Amino acid sequence: MPIEIIKISPFDDQKPGTSGLRKSVKRFQTPDYLQAFVQSIFNCIENLEGSILVLGGDGRFYNREAIKIILRMAAANGVAKVLLGQGGILSTPAVSHLIRKYKALGGIILSASHNPGGPEGDFGIKYNIATGGPAPESITEAIYQQSLRIQEYRILTVQAIPMDKLGSFTVGDLQVEIIDPVADYADYMETLFDFPKITRLLESSNFSMLFDAMNAVTGPYAVEIFQNRLNAPESAIMRRRPLGNFGGGHPDPNQVHAKELMQKLYSATGPSFGAASDGDGDRNMILGNYFFVTPSDSLAIIVANAHLIPGYKDGIKGVARSMPTSQAVDLVAKRLEIPCYETPTGWKFFGNLLDDNRITFCGEESFGTGSDHVREKDGIWAVLFWLNLLAIKQCSVEDLVREHWAKYGRHYYTRHDYEGINATKANDLMSNLEDQLAGLTGKEFAGLKVALADNFSYLDPVDGSRTEGQGIRIIFEDDSRIIFRLSGTGTQGATLRVYIERYIADVKQHDLDTQEALVELIAIANVLADIEEYTGRCKPDVIT
Ligand code: G1P
Ligand code: ZN
Repeated sequence: MPIEIIKISPFDDQKPGTSGLRKSVKRFQTPDYLQAFVQSIFNCIENLEGSILVLGGDGRFYNREAIKIILRMAAANGVAKVLLGQGGILSTPAVSHLIRKYKALGGIILSASHNPGGPEGDFGIKYNIATGGPAPESITEAIYQQSLRIQEYRILTVQAIPMDKLGSFTVGDLQVEIIDPVADYADYMETLFDFPKITRLLESSNFSMLFDAMNAVTGPYAVEIFQNRLNAPESAIMRRRPLGNFGGGHPDPNQVHAKELMQKLYSATGPSFGAASDGDGDRNMILGNYFFVTPSDSLAIIVANAHLIPGYKDGIKGVARSMPTSQAVDLVAKRLEIPCYETPTGWKFFGNLLDDNRITFCGEESFGTGSDHVREKDGIWAVLFWLNLLAIKQCSVEDLVREHWAKYGRHYYTRHDYEGINATKANDLMSNLEDQLAGLTGKEFAGLKVALADNFSYLDPVDGSRTEGQGIRIIFEDDSRIIFRLSGTGTQGATLRVYIERYIADVKQHDLDTQEALVELIAIANVLADIEEYTGRCKPDVIT
């Protein structure tokens, strides 16, 4: 089969962000754009020839076209075998698991996660390494440098590429094995959680669940796991059919974008447990009846109760959270006398800690929770963890969270997002904050004294690498925090994220409305950053 070598001029905008390269579908459809990035990846991978790769995506628009191109390029670059999810579908955590299970050299995930899909939406591509985790900064940076220099790519001449039937076929000398996207993952989940116990919970008359697959990748996973293996009724899964444009929705599991699910849960006759996952299945949101669990609390509760769950009975090595994630898990770690690491935003920073056996659990405030079972955050896993916990505790979600707060205190927490703002203005806002840092320590705002103000940097304890400029932190003497950073996943303009947190130990004050409990800090954040002036907005676009 003839290999074509196509000459190209490099693109200057292929720098991977927080999680791979994300751009509009239109940008990815620019002739040779995807090819240039894929060849840049291939040029940076050692031992590519003769290797096994895993390939799949969240099923969004352009997924199938991209897969065909990548298979033809993998063949032309000497890859021996690709494990491809049937229909081109694989969730991000499933890819991570498959890489580990089949000892692949790495994997390519096609997803823009929670960003909208469809011809007018976004697309994305990410490379994961042999550990199953996202490529570390050293590799993503090398890929970017390569993309700035690349002059040609290798591709096999067009040929029909089937991807919907299980089995094997070849593309040139490349063997493509089409695998069931769900089976291996579902089997793995059965080894971590007590499925018979969860089944009994789901069959009991005083418990009901509703999972929102958001017309994204977790639909088939939810059907196999919750319905077929755990005997949940069909009505327990909504928006189960993966669609190229996610049904026109924004596949982000939060209170704003999972509106229908929220309405169902915030009703007297609603289910006792609710959950949702995002476009590629790595995020999760956990709800009780009339109750929202913040992702930061979810992480803390998971860690505090892990000893009860079969897969984690042997103990916990340590935990990690991204810097903007609330400090709730820190208190649990302290009580358990295990290390607690604070990393920059993005799952890739957990990889070394997991591989070096320093941590068992990790999480982010952005609806991401996970453990050392794979090297990605994992939505369905988090839902199963909660179901297993509720099956053991036989209490409501709210009772479980309140019990936790009573023991550890409550971290009121919110994130305010200002989306699609002018990028220059966003950078100016950040520099203005940066300029103020030196003079902030010791200053008082609304009775709160600043204990520390800096731009967060991280020294990776495993490989000694340093990552600078990861967000402005203003920490007050009572441990309250305000954090500012710019998103690294958006595709239009800039997105400012403001994270606000306040700790209250007194159980009598655990019933406040979150925005009200944080009202002073929100005001301080607005004044310090002059948000209205720089963004032209008087309120955030999304509050989570
Ligand atoms: C966002 C989240 C971050 C997460 C990433 C990928 O990145 O904030 O925690 O790891 O998506 O899911 P950001 O847009 O803030 O750079
Ligand atoms: Zn995601």
